[in-house]
Order: sequence, then C-alpha cells, then structure tokens
Amino acid sequence: MTSAPEPTPTPAPAPLPDPAEVRALTDLAERLARSAGDLIRTTSPERVQVAATKSSDVDPVTAMDLASETHLRALLAEHRPHDGVLGEEHGLEPGTSGLTWVLDPIDGTVNYLYGVPAFAVSVGVVAGDPDPGRWTPVAGCVHAVADGRTYTAGRGQGAFRDGHRLEVNPARPLATSLIGTGFGYRAERRRAQGRVLAALLPRVRDIRRIGSAALDLCRVAEGSLDAHYERGLNPWDLAAGQIIAIEAGAQVSGLRGRPAGIEMSVVGPAATVHELAALLADLGADADD
Ligand code: IPD
Ligand code: CA
Repeated sequence: MTSAPEPTPTPAPAPLPDPAEVRALTDLAERLARSAGDLIRTTSPERVQVAATKSSDVDPVTAMDLASETHLRALLAEHRPHDGVLGEEHGLEPGTSGLTWVLDPIDGTVNYLYGVPAFAVSVGVVAGDPDPGRWTPVAGCVHAVADGRTYTAGRGQGAFRDGHRLEVNPARPLATSLIGTGFGYRAERRRAQGRVLAALLPRVRDIRRIGSAALDLCRVAEGSLDAHYERGLNPWDLAAGQIIAIEAGAQVSGLRGRPAGIEMSVVGPAATVHELAALLADLGADADD
C-alpha cells in the first residue's frame, strides 16, 4: 500500500526585526531616500527626457529613474548585503535574511518629466515574501524630492514627517471625504477606472489625482487627504507608504476582505475604508478591465 504524499510544509513566517533593528532600518531607509533625492536634485537636466517606455507609450522611464535605483542598490549592497532588493526598474534580487528592500527610485515619473513638483523616492523594507498580499511591512521612507518633505515610519514606532508625528484624519462620511486616486498606464484599464470614478465622484467631497501613489499614502497619513484608493499599484508604489499610513492610524486593505495589492488598495481611517471598499466592490472596481 502506498502512503499519501507528505504535504509540502508551509515555510515559517520570517521573524520580525526587534525594535532596535526596526529603528536602524528606518534610519537607513531615510538615509537612502535622501541620498537618492540629492542625486536627482543635483544631476537632473533642465529638460528631462524619456529614456524608454514600459507598459504603454505613456509609461515613461527617465535616465534618472535608472540612476536613482542603481544608486540605492549600491548603498544597500554596502550596508545590507544579505537583504533582498525589489526595485521598479531592475526587478528582484533575492536575499537570505528574510527582509527585502522595495524601491521606487522616482514615484511620480510623469510629474518629474513635466516639472510638476509631486514626485518622490520611496524606500520600504518588508519581511517575508515581497508581495503586498503576503509581506509584513517593517519600515519605510518617502522623500519628496522637490520640496524635501520626508516621511518615515517603523513598525510599532509611529509615523513622522520631518520629526512631527502623523495621524490620519478622524473618519468622516464618504460624502464629505477628500479622496485621492490614480490611474494605470494602459487605455483599457483607464476606461474601467474612469467608469468607477464617474460613479464615485458625485458621492464624495472631491477627488485628487496627484500623480504619486507613495505621496498619496503619506498625505492620508498626515491628513491632507482623507483616503486613497487605486487599482493596479505595484509593490514599489505601496511598500514605504503603506507602513507610513498604518503607523499614522490608517487601515490599508483590498476589497472583499482581501489584503491591499495590485487588485485594489484602499487606505484611510477604518470606517472610511469600510464604506469606500464596500462601494468600490459594488462598482466592480477590482473586476477585469
Ligand atoms: C505611478 C504613480 C501614480 C499611480 C500609478 C503609478 P510611477 O508610479 O504612483 O500616481 O497612479 O499607478 O504607476 O510610474 O510614477 O513610478
Ligand atoms: Ca511608482
């Protein structure tokens, strides 16, 4: 008689860093993000050009996206050689420590290209699988390059903007909430996002499309947006902003009880997220395009 095959064991969850290490990781995330910000500020050409395009003709990469990520990776190789690195421009380099740095070398590339001052370097560090549905966010920094505003957070240690502790707005009804969102780069996705937006707009205070998801999440953390939702966010758009929003008291989730991720991310005070996520689910905002 043949016995049933042994079930594949589920890997043990990666151990979370202790508070002193969380503090050190937060400080390093900030040093990295500020250093890449200095590079962008001091070496950008007067007129930024597109170096390549990605998912569509309107999804640009500039020479500075590439240079900023290369710079961040070089600093990580020096300071954290055993950690993994996942970056928007150069993909995943797995590590052995259970921690992965998740990098957006310029979030808000279209703003950067046009000289609209809402773009940022986003440096997050997560434990476990580097996938928003499975990771545990540990620490992060979002550094707004044009004006230097710098947001940081470490798990269990609060969220700060340049030393000031952040707290999300108290929950208010959706009808009087200011909601941030963003759109993908493909026409089909945008058509679907436009349909959802048309139904949502009459039911909220107003909508903002600022153009940097990382900064949007920091705005929720500081209260200059009440909430944010977006379909299609990648791990690097979310990693640092997610821990900053959580540490400021936000709930970060997907629809229908799922975690935030590429299907949908909804961020804000718990009651607002509850109301917004229910409405987005009714509108089929996470459905295929
Ligand atoms: C984009 C920005 C934008 C969001 C898009 C992202 P990128 O990132 O965060 O606000 O709406 O979904 O792809 O391309 O500027 O790094
Ligand atoms: Ca991005």
